[in-house]
Amino acid sequence: KLPYAEPFRIKMVEEIRQSTREEREEWLKNSKYNLFNLKSSQVYIDLLTDSGTGAMSDQQWGAMMTGDESYAGSKSFEKLHETVQKITGYQYLLPTHQGRAAENVLFSVLVKDGDVIPGNTHFDTTKGHIEIRKAHAVDCTIDEAFDIEDPHPFKGNIDLEKLELIYQTYPKDQIPFCLITITCNSSGGQPVSLENIKAVKELSDRYGVPIYFDSARFAENAYFIKIREKGQENRTIKEIAKEAFSYGVGMTMSSKKDGLVNIGGFIALNDADIFKKASNFTIIFEGFITYGGMAGRDMAALAVGLNEATEFEYLESRISQVEYLGNKLIEFGIPVQKPIGGHAVFIDSLTFLPNIPREEYPAQTLANEIYKEAGIRTVEIGTLLADRDPETRVNRYPKLELVRLAIPRRTYTNNHMDYIAAAIKNVFDRRNEIQKGYNITWESEILRHFTVELEKA
Ligand code: F0G
Repeated sequence: KLPYAEPFRIKMVEEIRQSTREEREEWLKNSKYNLFNLKSSQVYIDLLTDSGTGAMSDQQWGAMMTGDESYAGSKSFEKLHETVQKITGYQYLLPTHQGRAAENVLFSVLVKDGDVIPGNTHFDTTKGHIEIRKAHAVDCTIDEAFDIEDPHPFKGNIDLEKLELIYQTYPKDQIPFCLITITCNSSGGQPVSLENIKAVKELSDRYGVPIYFDSARFAENAYFIKIREKGQENRTIKEIAKEAFSYGVGMTMSSKKDGLVNIGGFIALNDADIFKKASNFTIIFEGFITYGGMAGRDMAALAVGLNEATEFEYLESRISQVEYLGNKLIEFGIPVQKPIGGHAVFIDSLTFLPNIPREEYPAQTLANEIYKEAGIRTVEIGTLLADRDPETRVNRYPKLELVRLAIPRRTYTNNHMDYIAAAIKNVFDRRNEIQKGYNITWESEILRHFTVELEKA
């Protein structure tokens, strides 16, 4: 048997630059110990996010040249509309400039003061758009998701008992929908099984609650269903994804992930009345309904990207690279969320840095150490990101304190993965010397992690 190799070759390259440890220490200090404040030129390998950071294909770049920039009724919109209908089965399409804009538009129609929106772990902007409307996001993810060693193949699944409790506790008119995030980013890029989606749909039907999907990584979710769920192995990714969407009434999308483009988002749904109302909000917040904040050329590239991202060969190469990095870290004894997620490897900082108290932000401390070590930028998925409770203003300590290594699509090689693994091993070998974390000197009211300022504790 021959070794595995990527189903693409590289046509264009972008130079990236190494720096010295002294330079990085200075840059980090000037950045108030917040990696979002670094310039990309101060970063060698950027694992901050897999969002909008991937490489487009020659077919996508070709499509860019055919973009129709008409304000209304653009041909590129038509092409995107057809593609979205074919892949999701949903009738109506509203483009937006990115995923959180789709949340803003849709939730402006659906969410009101006092509402409760259950689901698996909501992404932070999703939660932000719920909480800013004085509504509540309730996390009903299965408990296995919070034990990093548990090998459960679908750790994004919703716990039906937790969900039913919500349905029994609140009246129907206070629960506008149940939101299923595929894959579940906040619990480690973990998938939701088709069986679970179906069961959530059956339960929700009994209480008259519709299902929406946060679909940023729906294709990666379908890949996991194909390789892990019994009876799904012979189906195509497109068949699986379409079946998953058939259990919901609509979706929001960040096209910057499984759309394989650098910017964009959309809402797709079936209800004509909600579409009409959401159209008004699209016009106010985003732009006319046939472009919603996107250039025609960007819609053209997205139509191609959605088709490429739902091909098995692409997903196999994408997800096995993430797994390759995860397995290297496991070999070195580094505590990571298992199984390895679709878009990222998540390191458990509480086990990695047991000397740092939670009040000193161990995941942020580890992310900063990894940057100092090798110029690799990662992101904290822990207490900084979890924000304060909107009512009590006390820190919310999530069950896990993670550092996320998000891998951009079609961007880095496995040599980069080897470099990352070696760098993190170096930090792991000197973990006992890391005794102090950070204190906050300034923070914003909501989504503080993007702009928080820190000092050494
Ligand atoms: N939903 C999920 C599951 C996401 O992961 C994101 C973004 C969004 C919605 C919002 O989309 O960025 O296009 O506005 N996640 C990025 C990340 C930022 O780094 O995980 P957006």
